[in-house]
Amino acid sequence: MSSSLVSRRRFLETVGLAASTTLVGSFLLQARQGNAASSYTRRDIGTLSTTSSTVLSYKKAIAAMKALPDDNPLSWTYQAAIHGTTLPGSQPAWNTCKHGTYFFFSWHRMYLWYFERIVRKLSGDSNWALPYWNYGSTRQRRLPTVFRSPANASNPLYVTNRGSGWNAGTSSLNASAVDTVVALAEVPFNDFSSSLEGTPHGAVHVSIGGLMGSVPTAAQDPIFWLHHCNIDRLWNIWLAQGGGRTDPLSDSSWTTTKFTFFDENGQSVQLTGCEILRAQEQLNYAYQGEPTQVKLSCQPGISPTRKRSKEVLLRRSQESAVILPPESNPVSVGIDVRPVREQLLRVTSEGKTNLTLDLTNIEADRQPDVYYEVYVGLPKGATPEFNSPFYVGNIALFGQGIRNGQQHGEFSSATLSFKINRAVSAFLRRNQSDEQLNILFVPRGASPQENQAIAARSSATIQIGGIAISSDRQP
Ligand code: C2O
Repeated sequence: MSSSLVSRRRFLETVGLAASTTLVGSFLLQARQGNAASSYTRRDIGTLSTTSSTVLSYKKAIAAMKALPDDNPLSWTYQAAIHGTTLPGSQPAWNTCKHGTYFFFSWHRMYLWYFERIVRKLSGDSNWALPYWNYGSTRQRRLPTVFRSPANASNPLYVTNRGSGWNAGTSSLNASAVDTVVALAEVPFNDFSSSLEGTPHGAVHVSIGGLMGSVPTAAQDPIFWLHHCNIDRLWNIWLAQGGGRTDPLSDSSWTTTKFTFFDENGQSVQLTGCEILRAQEQLNYAYQGEPTQVKLSCQPGISPTRKRSKEVLLRRSQESAVILPPESNPVSVGIDVRPVREQLLRVTSEGKTNLTLDLTNIEADRQPDVYYEVYVGLPKGATPEFNSPFYVGNIALFGQGIRNGQQHGEFSSATLSFKINRAVSAFLRRNQSDEQLNILFVPRGASPQENQAIAARSSATIQIGGIAISSDRQP
């Protein structure tokens, strides 16, 4: 991500923040005292039985939340509307979710934490903690059973509005939709954040579709909360890998911007980045089986992260945007690499510089209901396989880049960067004389049988305004 993009995001985030009461200090203190001896464990839903207290209490609380009027902050409608809503009017904290910015992880952590407190209270289950959907495990690629069975209104975890096959238990997430290898390898926070926000986060939203497929409805599907619980867990896992990975502690906007939520008593409360860094210590929860949590803290005077300098090596010359039409065929775009062949060879062998594929001004008129695997340098006629060196990541639009009512606030197109060192070096090794570097976009839906239905489901056209290859020197 370019530094100008980061500062533009930061600017957009900083303007227009509403001032409201600060109850948070005393609230957190009470929370700590009240839970001095207890600690909550967020468990893998795949390890819980269908009649576990975690499942039963979640059902009970959702039913209770649904019985409350929409303007009650504890109601199901209100809680979902904090993320986004199509309802008219505006209540405090509605439509405030953060996507496409470096607040993505922190905002959703806060949101889940208060939601969890509300469920704990309304279920009467004082040990309740949010479970997570561990779709990284190949055994958990289908929608967890309790969310689809019984398939009727008696089951608060069931909603009809999901993409085809999910409620029947026949659809499953593709391996590329839940891949975490690409995102977890990123070291700078912003790169990690935008990568993981795309995959698995956005790809899972898009694959499930229905309510989950768009920002203003996503949190109405009870699976949303388990999906985000897993995303929050992956944040901890990323940090625990070390190697320079850290949160933006020297960025005062990230650390001190206040976001408003409601606690289990219906009180308006606020949290900042500094207050949610250490899940166990500050928020009293840990994930089943996670590595030791990293204990970051906000201290003044931390040296700012050094900026890397990004240089565009090559830009796709055509004036017109690349179009990914509403059909199931892959789209391929060639870039003439002759002018930079030597440079690419040098950069990929020397290993100090990130080569990135930058896709800019990505937009669709509505949710395409598919995501796209992106391949760079795949030999002609070869089958695109996501575990090949030519796979570089996915385009999964959720919360950005979609024009029609799919996000709140001003429309902004999406920008995505993919690391392509491995793909380009594989390409250079295989093609001594090929002039064209192929970039291939392969639409993917849910499970293999779902891919046959992609043509019918993907009714939106995606445009990619610009394609460039850049080098990004580490300091
Ligand atoms: Cu705010 Cu997964 O969305």
